[in-house]
Amino acid sequence: MTGRSPDRSLRVPFNKPSFAGKELQYIEDAVRSGHISGDGKYTERCQAVLEAWYQGSKVLLTTSCTDALEMAALLLDLRPGDEIIVPSFTFVSTVNAFVLSGARPRFVDIRPDTLNLDEGQVERHLTSRTKAIVPVHYAGVGCAMDRIMETARRHGIAVVEDNAHGLFGICAGKPLGMFGALAALSFHETKNVICGEGGAIVINDRRLVERAEVVRAKGTNRSRFDRGEVAKYEWIDSGSSFLPSDILAAFLLAQLEAKDRIQAKRRGLWDAYRRSLAGWAQEHGVGLPTVPEQCEQAYHMFYLLLPSPAHRDGLKAYLGSRGCLSVFHYSPLHVSPMGRQFGGREGDCPVAEDVSRRLLRLPFYTGMTDEEQAVVLDAVLEYAWG
Ligand SMILES: Cc1ncc(COP(=O)(O)O)c(C=O)c1O
Repeated sequence: MTGRSPDRSLRVPFNKPSFAGKELQYIEDAVRSGHISGDGKYTERCQAVLEAWYQGSKVLLTTSCTDALEMAALLLDLRPGDEIIVPSFTFVSTVNAFVLSGARPRFVDIRPDTLNLDEGQVERHLTSRTKAIVPVHYAGVGCAMDRIMETARRHGIAVVEDNAHGLFGICAGKPLGMFGALAALSFHETKNVICGEGGAIVINDRRLVERAEVVRAKGTNRSRFDRGEVAKYEWIDSGSSFLPSDILAAFLLAQLEAKDRIQAKRRGLWDAYRRSLAGWAQEHGVGLPTVPEQCEQAYHMFYLLLPSPAHRDGLKAYLGSRGCLSVFHYSPLHVSPMGRQFGGREGDCPVAEDVSRRLLRLPFYTGMTDEEQAVVLDAVLEYAWG
């Protein structure tokens, strides 16, 4: 027990979008100003906040993290038969975005501590066709980027960080999303900073900036035209429609301006989970998230690694009976129907296969109240171990 007596009839969702305060004011202003398509003043202001965080790297808002990853694939000029290195334990988009360009994924297992791409296994999956490594900072905890970058440099291949979870996380003093040539961010309503559906591409390699603007604007030089640099805009490359509406950017700006408050709140919730569950976890052999010393995590999620799949399923059902929605996470992609078409087989990534059966994510959202968290904690601590 936590020592508090929360209202046991309270139902706790897994996620609830939280509002920072000025969203509607900014949306109204965007609507009244008459510019509601992409690249209006709110898009620019969001990009400026993110570019300040990324110390001058170029940032372009996109309609999702998935789209930012698809842009990355186009910018790397991937061709059918090229290969990419990806963790098996990730969201579909990390891989599918590159498969759309004809690339073949080589699935690599994850580390048992951080659940990030196992940097020690990357080298043996490289071939003469490998074009990129796509690490995912799982739960907003940084991958071993020193080793990954060193491997990529030695073999002359690009790194694209899937930083859907890790905005405002830091690794060895550097923001997550600033290591690779490119990185992708997500503002989906389940993330820390949100606008419903949204994302951004971080372009750390300045040589890719001009083309990124073109790829994002249907293959046209519209951005240069908007800046008055060319007299008319033309179709000059392949691309697609990756610009979000300024209405969404208006929502997002309200969130980005509140980022310190949002991160502090999430940190408090995360620390309270960890503190309250440490003894229980040790007693029952439950794993809690590992954050290496050189990482400042992004406080994106809180998960448990139960000792067996039966315990995971049992705890999930019990929490459900107490009104708390907890959820699994990724099914390993190498054994998905699509992953198998790329040669994935059971046993290829044993850590990912094992972890996916034992991992349970607890309710975690910026607006979570102390009482809601107490309901979850009491339910977890009162679970009868069979
Ligand atoms: C690791 C990872 N990459 C990419 C995505 C896709 O993000 P979006 O919904 O913004 O396209 C997700 C979604 O949660 C994710 O977890």
